[in-house]
Amino acid sequence: MSTLDARHRAYQSKLAEFGQAHLLSFWPQLDDQQRSQLLDDLDQVDFVRCAPLINSYVRQRPAVHVPQHIEPPECYPAAGEVGKMVGSAHPTEYAQARRAGEDAIHAGRVAAFMVAGGQGTRLGYDGPKGAFRITPVRDAPLFQVFAEGLLGTARRYGRRPHWYIMTSLTNHAETTAFFEQNRYFGLSPDDVTFFRQGQMPAFLPDGRIALAERHRVALSPDGHGGSLRALADNGALADMRRRGIDTISYFQVDNPLVRVIDPLFIGLHLVTGSEMSSKAVRKAYDEERVGVFCQVDGQLEVIEYSDMPDELMRARNPDATRRFDAGSIAIHILSRAFVERLTTFNSAVQLPWHRADKQVTTVDEAGNQVKPASPNAVKLEMLVFDAIPLARNPLVLYTRREEEFSPVKNAAGVDSPATAQRDLIRRAARWLDTSGVTVPRAADGEPALPIEISPAFALDAADLQQQLKTPPVLTTGKPALFA
Ligand code: UTP
Repeated sequence: MSTLDARHRAYQSKLAEFGQAHLLSFWPQLDDQQRSQLLDDLDQVDFVRCAPLINSYVRQRPAVHVPQHIEPPECYPAAGEVGKMVGSAHPTEYAQARRAGEDAIHAGRVAAFMVAGGQGTRLGYDGPKGAFRITPVRDAPLFQVFAEGLLGTARRYGRRPHWYIMTSLTNHAETTAFFEQNRYFGLSPDDVTFFRQGQMPAFLPDGRIALAERHRVALSPDGHGGSLRALADNGALADMRRRGIDTISYFQVDNPLVRVIDPLFIGLHLVTGSEMSSKAVRKAYDEERVGVFCQVDGQLEVIEYSDMPDELMRARNPDATRRFDAGSIAIHILSRAFVERLTTFNSAVQLPWHRADKQVTTVDEAGNQVKPASPNAVKLEMLVFDAIPLARNPLVLYTRREEEFSPVKNAAGVDSPATAQRDLIRRAARWLDTSGVTVPRAADGEPALPIEISPAFALDAADLQQQLKTPPVLTTGKPALFA
């Protein structure tokens, strides 16, 4: 019997046991290559893990837990606002924390961790999102911006942090090839570790796993919450231990303004003994589609915008400011020991699954592909912020949106390449203002030229001031690059 036949046999009985025999229904019509592909896809599915999920999340909707007491959490104010907020931290605490962060970076205890396994459906770009070109002058891709953040960190703090990058099965080869073609954007291949995240199949409402083609299972990444398990399963946590890394700086591939390694944030995390820390921005308006940090029955959590009760979303403090105002921007520090605790076999914790009803291309009984016009299948994802309530001493640090958050989510409109590029230029102009450089501006106040500051050149306004030996002269319409 050929290996293919043997694998087929094994799956025949296994799939029958799990009520998924339909996955092999087109077997007789497939050629050997397709058969092998189908079996490889089936190898990606953890049928034991899926079985209980089908009952509790697919055939029925999971029960919604209604929290009793929801309060706004206490957050650390943004660095520039220290001392201005009621009960806020003292500036010297921040100075001490920043020094602790710098020491940890210098000692090689901190790694960058970027999650880049998403499908980027809304952007609709044909390739890994990190390859999308975003900067206003060089047209550099997102990956390059983050790589230069690490080069800038090395310049400033004397140590280049290791970079872990989570990809998905779909974009892994393209991602690694892109780094190779671009010679790792000035980093060394030894500075970067790539690994793939887990997959979950899409389910039809009756609990059957969907086929995307006659020989393909409809698989998709298991959410950014899958990153914690993926760190463990791919040996990244063990690698960190070997390198002496105990602190993980987590960010997403879609935010070109992110400070990839932030000494203040890292330092606050370390000096307070937090296991998972998060950055927040003040919400722009009540209905903004960001998760909100809340104290839920005494525990810090992020409530997704879709789950936030309407009256809380609009609630006001006595001084008319928004009561639930801390929007999550998916920037976290995690302690390695915390991720180990969540993922090691004996004490492993399963993050909750989130059900999403999606349009998934499937096949009909004749094996023809069907593109649905409305949601026809259920996808299950884990979200990284669900780890926060499991952490000891979790903290939230406010940052300024205009300094650190402008994600590329949509092809146009809000959170698009256009808004991210605009915000990169505005930030660069502000930093130059602080350094005493005259930035030509149009009548509407916008900078009248494209400006780009590579994070390798300057990481923030103070860094830029030190880096500029002679103040440059900027001319309307003439692109200015600081790299
Ligand atoms: P989004 O929630 O924006 O999803 O991911 P997405 O898949 O990138 O985009 P859409 O919704 O299809 O348009 C936020 C971050 O989490 C990562 C993404 O790569 C991005 O950095 N992510 C998301 C993963 O790494 N894995 C996932 O399974 C999902």
